[in-house]
Amino acid sequence: MRITFRLIFSLVVTVTVVVTLFAFFQVRQEKARLSEELERRAGILAESLQETVEPLLEKRSASNLQRIVDKFGNRERLSGVAVYDANAHALAITPSLATQLANPPDVVTESLAKDRGLGGFDSLNGKRMHFYALPLKQEGQLAGALVIVHDASYIGDRISEMWRHNFMRLFLHALLVSLTTLIVVRWSIVGPIAKAADWMKKLRTGEAGEPLSFLKADLFTPLTREITVMAKNLRVARAAAEEEARLREAAESVWTPERLKENLRSRLEGKSLFVISNREPYMHVRKGNRVEAIVPASGLVTALEPVLRASDGTWIAHGSGEADMDVVDAQARLRVPPEDPRYTLRRVWLSREEEAGYYYGFANEGLWPLCHIAHTRPIFRAENWAHYQSVNAKFAQAALEELEGTEAPCVLIQDYHFALLPRLIKEQRPDARVAIFWHIPWPNPESFGICPWQRELLYGMLGADLIGFHTQFHCNNFLETVDRTLESRIDWERFAVEREGHATLVKPFPISIAFHDRSDDLSVENGSRAQKETLLRELGVTTKYLGVGVDRIDYTKGILERFRGIERFLEKYPQYQGQFTFVELGAPSRTLITRYHDLVGEVEAMADRINWRFKTKEWKPIVFLKKHHSHQEIAPFYRAADVCLVTSLHDGMNLVAKEYVASRDDERGSLILSQFTGASRELRDALLVNPYDTEQMAEAIRYALEMDADEQQDRMRRMRDTLKQHNIYRWTANLVRELSQIRLGHHPTVKSGSM
Ligand code: G6P
Repeated sequence: MRITFRLIFSLVVTVTVVVTLFAFFQVRQEKARLSEELERRAGILAESLQETVEPLLEKRSASNLQRIVDKFGNRERLSGVAVYDANAHALAITPSLATQLANPPDVVTESLAKDRGLGGFDSLNGKRMHFYALPLKQEGQLAGALVIVHDASYIGDRISEMWRHNFMRLFLHALLVSLTTLIVVRWSIVGPIAKAADWMKKLRTGEAGEPLSFLKADLFTPLTREITVMAKNLRVARAAAEEEARLREAAESVWTPERLKENLRSRLEGKSLFVISNREPYMHVRKGNRVEAIVPASGLVTALEPVLRASDGTWIAHGSGEADMDVVDAQARLRVPPEDPRYTLRRVWLSREEEAGYYYGFANEGLWPLCHIAHTRPIFRAENWAHYQSVNAKFAQAALEELEGTEAPCVLIQDYHFALLPRLIKEQRPDARVAIFWHIPWPNPESFGICPWQRELLYGMLGADLIGFHTQFHCNNFLETVDRTLESRIDWERFAVEREGHATLVKPFPISIAFHDRSDDLSVENGSRAQKETLLRELGVTTKYLGVGVDRIDYTKGILERFRGIERFLEKYPQYQGQFTFVELGAPSRTLITRYHDLVGEVEAMADRINWRFKTKEWKPIVFLKKHHSHQEIAPFYRAADVCLVTSLHDGMNLVAKEYVASRDDERGSLILSQFTGASRELRDALLVNPYDTEQMAEAIRYALEMDADEQQDRMRRMRDTLKQHNIYRWTANLVRELSQIRLGHHPTVKSGSM
């Protein structure tokens, strides 16, 4: 209130000063104008009388003079006229002024002395009068003076009236300013602040509140942003604390971000974590003339982002966004997530040739199909291999720069883009603990053996202290590949490779996601029902059952096989025609590679063909939404879908399956999952399918849609329990624990060999 009062007071003072100054100048002008006008009128009258009076003066005709003077007495503002001789003796005076003007006013003597017409104000009987004196002549000689007397009190009246008006105006201004200020302050500032305070109180006391959208004004934008982030953090912290408390109660051991943070602090002795991957967690792109950060479609990013958030580490990655360079500092670093910075992203720049050779060429046309047995032939070109080597060296350089100043750092290298990096780093920094996690499958030795540079790749990887895969099966494949390719000692008991005095542990770490359990929230179930209706309305389809698939458009994901399964299902069970729609959220990926480019067309063509075969006016079986969808855009589909189809032909883990399960807080929905995914080892309650078996897929879809509610809930609950226990925080904790327990240094007992 005091601020409002101060604001009003200063505004009123300002208005008063301005209005008074204006009024003062206006009054002064008006006064001058009226006085000048009076003087001019008196002058004209005096001059016109002069002609009549001068001859009478000559004749010394007192009676005639008096007649003239009488005629002009008391006319409107003209109060009277007087005539004096050259010695200022009165000759004729308007009777009403006879006594007052018997002695001539000063202006008469002055006018006679100066021999010209003169005007001036004086008071007469307490009234303000104007006197104008004009010399009279006879034959060119001064013969007397004529005086015109006007009542000038109207000027004073006019001036007082002007002041009165101005004060009224000032009063109205002040009143309006005060009222407007009060209303604006109340509506736009005090009201929203009071609401925000109430909102924060509710937040503090744990009551659910509406979204912060009432703080709309520009003025509050920075505040809203900060409060929103703070509220989110508070909710997360509270949820974590509650979860911790609940777990302590139940003596369970679920990993939370807080627990991981604490754990890393003690394991890493206060040092931060260094993660290296090709794909960055945030890509800056241009939208019109704005720069926006998007999260790329990548299982790796989905998994690691929560870890970095919890540990405030450094993530080194290829800066591949078109606006990436615009937002970094001189060291190519920035803090992310953009809306709530928690860790450092260091970008590495690659030329087009480097990207073409290393990323598109060697990694994605060579290693990707080599490791995924999905019947797409790997292509190996010597020039791509050269780029792969030089880009690995470039990333090593960037990593070494970031590691500078950190003793015995912990480095987690990600995926098939960086097989050579562990050794490159380790050679320069033997004190570093280096792990490489291979997110994709590792094939059997025969399959891997077709790679012309398999020895160099293995040699590079074995520079690491720890190599991780999603499954024991992939670990075994890797160890067998090493056994057949390089001279080394495989310790099948510890699952380690010993070579040149250095040991590398090879272990499975099934990756996961952050799991937030909201199944106690009663609004969840109603929410998902309403969301389904909204989604279907937006898609323009009428259907009873909804299926969803979320993928990068990649030949390993079995999208065509999935469509075939759906087609067969509708063919075999025609009662579902018009009742089941499948939405494919497909993000185009690596489209500069012919196989990927062609696949987008193939997926589109197959969706069109199946739609054409079955569709009706209001319904179609497949909706193919070909674009990059954010996590926020995907979430409603997960929550609304009766069934999610993950039908990869081969997949290291597949986090879409886990995300679908994690988002079903309502414990509804079914998951159809390919038996060739790493996830199928953990999510045993999914309906496991062989995506090459079209009949089996059709049956699985029918089974999923007809599954009774109890079975659906049991399966979903068990899968959710698994994910709750095996979340991404546990994955990181296990990996880092394993890495930190490794004894660094030379192992003299191991015989050394050459590549
Ligand atoms: C897989 C790989 C990741 C990769 C992701 C997306 O999940 O294991 O390393 O980031 O696909 O592919 P992209 O080539 O777009 O990064």
